[in-house]
Amino acid sequence: MKHLVLLALAGLILCACGPKPPPPANPSSLAPADVRLAGLYEGSCKACHVNPQAGAPLVGDAKAWAPRWKQGESVLLDHVIQGYKAMPATGQCAACTPDDFQALTRFMAGKS
Ligand code: HEC
Repeated sequence: MKHLVLLALAGLILCACGPKPPPPANPSSLAPADVRLAGLYEGSCKACHVNPQAGAPLVGDAKAWAPRWKQGESVLLDHVIQGYKAMPATGQCAACTPDDFQALTRFMAGKS
């Protein structure tokens, strides 16, 4: 009997919240569709760009990427290749070409 009352109470509490917005995509679960790019991403960018502690704009976080994207793609590409504040030059990806950096940036900013 006690359990039923508790269940009913829990039900009331859950219902009181109303419809919830869908949870944001978990950045760790995202990866580029292209297998080679996904490998490059796993080996470098991902270490920081899914980690809120790193101070990097998180993968797929539209709000974090909007002001950065506004700078223009060539500025972003410069910042990836030359480094920018806590963003290390080339994102520590020695195997990445400029095209890769562009594709990886598009992927992380949700523009691919
Ligand atoms: C060691 C951690 C680290 C790695 C690895 C890393 N990043 Fe970053 N990245 C950062 C941080 C921190 C910032 C935010 C810099 C700031 O604005 O203070 C950043 C910012 C950026 C930006 C935005 C620059 C701007 O002008 O706003 C781009 C684009 C970017 N990273 C791309 C990449 C790509 C592509 C890779 C993989 C090839 C990568 N990053 C790997 C830490 C990292």
